[in-house]
Amino acid sequence: MDCVKQALLVGGYKNVINRLMIKKLLLSFSILLLLSSLSAQQLSDRAWARADSLLGQMTLDEKVGQMTLFTSDWVVTGPTLRPGYRDDILAGKVGAIFNAHTSEYNHQLQKMAVEETRLGIPLLFGYDVVHGYRTIFPIPLGESASWDLQGIEQTARIAAVEASAAGLNWTFAPMVDIARDPRWGRVAEGAGEDTYLGSLISAARVRGFQGQNIGDENTILACVKHYAAYGAAQAGRDYNTVDISDRTLREIYLPPFKAAKDAGVYSFMTAFNDVDAVPCSGNSYLLQDILRKEWGFQGMVVTDYTSINEMVPHGIVANNAEAATLAVNAGVDMDMQGAVYYDYLAKQVKEGLVSVETVDQSVRYILALKYELGLFDDPYRYGSKEREAEEVFSQAHLNVALESSIKSLVLLKNERGALPISASKSIAVVGPLADNKAEMLGNWFGDGRADDVITPLMAFRAIGADVYYAKGCETSGEDESRISEAVVAAEQADIIVAFVGESGYMSGEAASRSDITLPGPQRALISALEATGKPLVLVLMNGRPLDLSWEVAHCDAILEAWFPGTMGGPAIVEVLMGEANPSGRLPITFPRSVGQVPIFYNAKNTGRPFDANNKYTSKYLDVENTPLFPFGFGLSYAEITYGKPVLSKTEFSASETVKISIRVTNTGDVATTETVQLYVHDLVGSVTRPLKELKGFQQVTLAPGATQQVEFEIGVNDLAFYTRDMTWKAEPGDFEIQLGPNSRDVQTATIKLTD
Ligand code: GLC
Repeated sequence: MDCVKQALLVGGYKNVINRLMIKKLLLSFSILLLLSSLSAQQLSDRAWARADSLLGQMTLDEKVGQMTLFTSDWVVTGPTLRPGYRDDILAGKVGAIFNAHTSEYNHQLQKMAVEETRLGIPLLFGYDVVHGYRTIFPIPLGESASWDLQGIEQTARIAAVEASAAGLNWTFAPMVDIARDPRWGRVAEGAGEDTYLGSLISAARVRGFQGQNIGDENTILACVKHYAAYGAAQAGRDYNTVDISDRTLREIYLPPFKAAKDAGVYSFMTAFNDVDAVPCSGNSYLLQDILRKEWGFQGMVVTDYTSINEMVPHGIVANNAEAATLAVNAGVDMDMQGAVYYDYLAKQVKEGLVSVETVDQSVRYILALKYELGLFDDPYRYGSKEREAEEVFSQAHLNVALESSIKSLVLLKNERGALPISASKSIAVVGPLADNKAEMLGNWFGDGRADDVITPLMAFRAIGADVYYAKGCETSGEDESRISEAVVAAEQADIIVAFVGESGYMSGEAASRSDITLPGPQRALISALEATGKPLVLVLMNGRPLDLSWEVAHCDAILEAWFPGTMGGPAIVEVLMGEANPSGRLPITFPRSVGQVPIFYNAKNTGRPFDANNKYTSKYLDVENTPLFPFGFGLSYAEITYGKPVLSKTEFSASETVKISIRVTNTGDVATTETVQLYVHDLVGSVTRPLKELKGFQQVTLAPGATQQVEFEIGVNDLAFYTRDMTWKAEPGDFEIQLGPNSRDVQTATIKLTD
């Protein structure tokens, strides 16, 4: 056990579990995770049979009740339910409640539904358990920077264990919206810009939440969101129009949803936006043609918050009554908080606007899910005070959170030997995010509590570092009056570590920013710190890529920490002090300027690709075309060299594969985990093709001096795309293979698909 980890874990937490035990814990989790990936959930015949037998007993009002989802509220004294909703539950007019949690409260509500209604149909309890329930992991964008699929599945597993202990059986996650525009605040909630990585992470999170058997009391329904293409909102403005080709929809935005479906996800959530001029909650192309017919999805579709009602301002219906008809006929099974089904659906069935069969189909999905959850056998199976006390916020979970946070950190710059920091050095710990517990949780932090968080300042102090602290400024406003205090701290120390970035509310939902530079007076703070001449390290906490063009020229090192969660402080300090080696890789491009946006790695070449010697080529007059930091980028404390790609063959037929290998050597003096990335460029296609597409990656751990041969295999299925007539297939021709540590610094070779 190294001294940093020992000290950090002893801090506010009882027993210290050494790294060996953490590894044993991780190993046991990984065996469990491997098993869980073997079975994609399906609704059983018994579930359908139980649904059908209940349906036969239900009144129309009771059926509509199952299609209604209302929120619980939280006041200073704890959870509370609006009086009207209490009456609705007792009348069988509500089938699910969200934002209610703790075993005691949810048990109360469940008792009303099960013991005081005519048919005793249990409630679903949903909540946004997005990156942890009480033990909070890095925001999803940060966790995605680990490229560690097992680790990502594991944290979702832990989130489900904690949430189910607290009486929940459904989470509104994973959010899988591909996002290429950092102005959009919800980029924080997803897995970044890449479809291939995003699809793998989507499936991992679904497996984590739903486990091996959805009927187990420590698993919960996952709900993949927001279907679909919410991340393509024009200009990165939240809730804005999405106008993309069917090809882009199917090639870029839909695959992570399909991956969730193939992983057995039990529910989908419709997005607020329109796609090709039809709002998702009324879009039968998305909900029937693709989801039900093409993909064969057998779970339940719930809307986002009042998104049925919002089809009126979208202008596709004139009123809520018409919205109800459009949504239920398009395939929406449950209305989140809109009370539109509640108000109009029964009447519309009686008037013949909606068939009873349509309603029955939706109710069947809902009842079958409740059966699979085991709620008909034991409606009180989710939530127990004993499990809450034992499993929620356990030391074992905190240890995993520490490892997850460490793996999410991305070293973007490290010069003048700034990092790692020698334990003998005194450190000026400054900036608005150096000691701010609440901000480290980011957004959508469930039952996460600021008091639980260990900040970087606390973590430095826990290891006995010689620290001079001053906040210096806020993340917003114009007050520069306390920057001088940070300068005083800096002048007393050997090295400066400035914790800057965004506040949690500046990303997430309804948090688009037109200017993605550091907000408030933080640049003035950095400038004053730079003027001291001391080595200057920036640690960033933010929910989106920022324009760091100025910062990168005014500091010695930059560590991207995203919003790192409950154990973010110890994680950051372990990396800064060299107890852990940074291994994160960017899941999203960092632009030089917001004016470049959208800018992403898998772009097209255009007919006039940039040529410095030709004015009439695709470029800006005032900024380079390249990003500041490319997709897949990240440094480490080790030195890694790549050999040349070696191919098993250069030509192959559709029935063959090509093996590609490359030797990777750690010439540094610290162990590291390297994410070797494989990209492919289809040189000529029946439609224009991206300059590169991520088609594989492998994480290899290399001791100092070690060399490892990393092997990939490419076949025809890896090269398929939507051809000119929208057929999904590969076309014969030449393909450039690109291998390297990120999407920019690659070595290439060419292969030919012959038929
Ligand atoms: C919000 C979000 C969605 C969330 C839901 C319930 O508006 O768009 O992601 O799951 O409402 O909180």
